[in-house]
Amino acid sequence: MGDKYLLTKFLLVFPYGLEDIVKCELEEKMHFKGVVEENPQGVPGRIIIDIPESESSRLLSLRSVDWFLEYIGAFKVDTSLRGLEDIYSGIIRMEFPNGFREASSFRVSCRRSGKHEFTSMDVQRKAGQALVDKYGLKVDLENFQANVFLDIVGDSCFVGFFRSEYASGRYIVFTHPAALRPSVAYGMVRIAGLKPGMTLLDPMCGGGIIPIEAALSTSNVTIYGFDVSEYFLEGAALNAEAMGASERIIFKRVDCKRLSKELTFKVDRIVTDPPYGTKPIARVNPRAFYSICLPEMRKVLSDDGRIVLITIKPGYVGEISSKIGLSIEHERIIRHGDASPSIMVLKPS
Ligand SMILES: C[S@@+](CC[C@H](N)C(=O)[O-])C[C@H]1O[C@@H](n2cnc3c(N)ncnc32)[C@H](O)[C@@H]1O
Repeated sequence: MGDKYLLTKFLLVFPYGLEDIVKCELEEKMHFKGVVEENPQGVPGRIIIDIPESESSRLLSLRSVDWFLEYIGAFKVDTSLRGLEDIYSGIIRMEFPNGFREASSFRVSCRRSGKHEFTSMDVQRKAGQALVDKYGLKVDLENFQANVFLDIVGDSCFVGFFRSEYASGRYIVFTHPAALRPSVAYGMVRIAGLKPGMTLLDPMCGGGIIPIEAALSTSNVTIYGFDVSEYFLEGAALNAEAMGASERIIFKRVDCKRLSKELTFKVDRIVTDPPYGTKPIARVNPRAFYSICLPEMRKVLSDDGRIVLITIKPGYVGEISSKIGLSIEHERIIRHGDASPSIMVLKPS
């Protein structure tokens, strides 16, 4: 049996709350059913899978995954300065694969979430020192052969090789100040349940992430991206072009408060990340804004249509929906950066 059939472990990182979507995508694109470990070390938004190395490049096609590591192992770290000693000893104890010992150079990168008395630079230096001491390899920050990655979440440290240089966010040439993660946009599009022949509208599309993810994951769906800002629409067009999705999306400047006056037809799915989707916006009163925009969306929705939106104000959405003939069909809380917004599915009641 050749090496390409050897199983390699990968740690996939995604927004928690979208586990079902990641598993569906793994099954569809990689015919993969078994997950080795969910929530390793008790950390949500991560799963470990075992796949033949020859199939690993297909991981780059997963839109629900933010990034991934070829997984080596994990250990606990103290969140105080003592954690740096845990990192040194954890790396010394860890068995790196044979290929790493033969590498001509390496670098260490680190991503931290949670509160720590040490910085990511401290971690990189300490882990790098451990690898130099153990394997005698050369550090090269520019022309490295291996990128050793430490993913520290609270008191858990996951270690692996960074393999997802081209992960889902790669096309963002224009970043909206309140940008949605492509993985979350993909999840919302999946939750919307689009079918060929349907029409999708994002009436507040910003940098265009939702329409682009819809274009990449569907065929024969008519996709509209509106926004009140010409500047954001120009950015959205750049992003769509970078992803080869320009032909699939009709971008237009429309004020959502006038949606029903601008649209002469009904849409099957509205999928959107309005102001207060994942971040508060100082000059917007969310209740007042939703009180105008939700009824407008309701007016342009087909009788069996659905609105899928993300919001950090689900209470306001529920309250306004019940007054305008919309009911909540589904609601789930996800993690997006430091926020825990809800994805809500509304349908005509
Ligand atoms: C949270 S952002 C959307 C970000 C987008 N999902 C992305 O990832 O780039 C909300 C968007 O709503 C737009 N917006 C605010 N008020 C609007 C209105 N009255 N009509 C249409 N768009 C509006 C803003 O210009 C902004 O781009």
